[in-house]
Amino acid sequence: MASSSISSLAETRALRDRLQAASRRLVFTNGVFDLLHAGHVRYLAQARALGDALVVALNSDESVRALKGPSRPLNTAADRAEVLLGLRSVDAVVVFDGERCTDAITAIQPHVYAKGGDYTPDSLNREEKAALDAAASAIHILELVPGRSTTDTIRKMNEPTGTPAGARRTRLAVLGSGQGSNFEALLAAMAAGTIEAEVTLVLSDRADARILRLAREAGIPAVYVDPGSEPNKLDDAAQKEICDRLRASGAELVILAGFMKRLREPVLSAFPERILNVHPSLLPAYPGREAWVQAWTAGATETGCTVHLVDAGIDSGRLLAQARVPILPTDDAEAVRARINAAEQVLYPQAIANYAATLA
Ligand code: GAR
Repeated sequence: MASSSISSLAETRALRDRLQAASRRLVFTNGVFDLLHAGHVRYLAQARALGDALVVALNSDESVRALKGPSRPLNTAADRAEVLLGLRSVDAVVVFDGERCTDAITAIQPHVYAKGGDYTPDSLNREEKAALDAAASAIHILELVPGRSTTDTIRKMNEPTGTPAGARRTRLAVLGSGQGSNFEALLAAMAAGTIEAEVTLVLSDRADARILRLAREAGIPAVYVDPGSEPNKLDDAAQKEICDRLRASGAELVILAGFMKRLREPVLSAFPERILNVHPSLLPAYPGREAWVQAWTAGATETGCTVHLVDAGIDSGRLLAQARVPILPTDDAEAVRARINAAEQVLYPQAIANYAATLA
């Protein structure tokens, strides 16, 4: 039976013990929930279905301010609790201070812990994970509903009244393995207004990639995904994690900017005709690695860069845009690489903007 107000940890623990005595299970999840949307409602219903009662641990107002800045929460903890308790799926709400709900987990000892799909069991906070392990809680990562997020709703509310749907900003996720010069050029184009876009996620298969650092400095969510043990390949778990994270980011387009691993299923089917890559040659010439070295070694007098859609092949998807670059007799391979890179930085943001404009 749902409580009609915020519960104490002791009351919630008593609920857990009653369920336990009846061989039933208490599910626990946590979050801010200051602007409830359909994604939350579905997520909470899924969490509730993992057991026999659901308790939501709500970040206190102070905790939300520390996590999300002074403009949040949009509603007080009392109001947020009232709204949550109005849902069929929610049986109890507790409020916690600080950034972590470790103390609530330890006090309540839930049978099941449910979390939104932008996490993996490995990326859960270590402290919370230790508390869950100590409580022998089963951990379930639930799929988030793509395209529905509080951030997105706030963004829409802040758009000037009467903004036509086509003029809104396209949500991009950027994948890179290295320097991130193309990502930098994209950020510069966004700042200059050349492209109406926002980057909702930057993801890399290399923990030390500069592109992740650049993203963090720009306040953009940045995640490392472990590629697995095989060199130059993403294993199945990595492909799945990338797919989940891209979906959770609400990205409409996936932008490969120096991402040196091949994407396979389930990513390709999740984003059909929605994954763009920039390649340092005039495709179909010189696909694959170090394309500038290939062109220079072949004695070519011209090469360039290509923006194309990504399919299951190697640099084989539909071409969207190209720029030509000369190879001078005095060039070494590095000079060719640098000249191509400069051309990419102009071509890629423009090609992304043009392609985004063709989307419904
Ligand atoms: C770019 O030159 C891009 O064309 C290339 O990696 C570089 C990344 O630079 N990509 C490929 O070769 C993909 N086949 P960046 O990290 O500085 O943007």
